[in-house]
Amino acid sequence: MAEWLRSVKSLGMSVCPETDSAWVQELRELAAQHSSVRILPLDVENSASIQEAFVSVKDQLAGSGLNLLINNAGKAVSLSFHTESEESMHQLYHIHVVGSLKMSQTFLPLLKKAAQMGPQDSLSCNRAAVINISSTAGSFTELLGWKFGPSLSYRCSKAALNMLTWCQGLLLKEEGILCIAIHPGWVQTDMGNYRNFLAPIKKEDSVQGMLKVFSTLSEKNAGYFFDWEGKELCW
Ligand SMILES: NC(=O)c1ccc[n+]([C@@H]2O[C@H](COP(=O)([O-])OP(=O)(O)OC[C@H]3O[C@@H](n4cnc5c(N)ncnc54)[C@H](OP(=O)(O)O)[C@@H]3O)[C@@H](O)[C@H]2O)c1
Repeated sequence: MAEWLRSVKSLGMSVCPETDSAWVQELRELAAQHSSVRILPLDVENSASIQEAFVSVKDQLAGSGLNLLINNAGKAVSLSFHTESEESMHQLYHIHVVGSLKMSQTFLPLLKKAAQMGPQDSLSCNRAAVINISSTAGSFTELLGWKFGPSLSYRCSKAALNMLTWCQGLLLKEEGILCIAIHPGWVQTDMGNYRNFLAPIKKEDSVQGMLKVFSTLSEKNAGYFFDWEGKELCW
């Protein structure tokens, strides 16, 4: 899904690590075809990298604001209760929670600028929004994939991301910025195709579904947790 999320963001910038995997190649081809797609390196575990991405995006925007920030970076580690490690608990918390927070904090000036320049009457993704890609694996009631294993570091860090989203929803709406969390579905990505089990949802269906949800969001949804089909989810 990462490649799709990034590619559909032709409205703005795409950020990715500098690797040569197949999807990076695909993304490069897209950028070559569409001048509005720009690729930037980003490691959300590294503050200096986030700052560098911010400076590049600001330069590219040349005085305009940033309408949409999608915090999509994610990692899953599948360990049992007995083998779950301090290292993976720290790393996944860092990527999903600290990384998403630092991204929102760093890009705030550009989001605020978009909020000030956009329609003043309500919150929307057309005006300014932060979307945190979460998971029902971190929902108390849904526990997606429980039969495949506890994956404690993944579940706990996504649950914490949901709380971060709720708090940011409350805080950022004062600035005219909408913040929500969304579960993309169980998608056919490297992460979704777990142990040769083919995930049920195609990447393009997940992304198209999420884009549709984004277009319907307003002020009353600040801090909410949705799935890719627009269903409101329980924490
Ligand atoms: N696939 C599913 O079924 C599913 C379900 C629920 C939620 N999600 C969420 O959807 C999001 C996208 O996941 P996916 O399915 O596309 O998984 P994926 O195929 O494993 O892609 C994850 C992406 O996150 C990037 N990433 C990891 N650590 C990063 C870091 N420190 N800085 C910047 N980028 C980093 C990875 O880059 P590298 O390739 O360079 O490591 C990769 O491009 C994640 O937040 C995931 O938790 C996925």
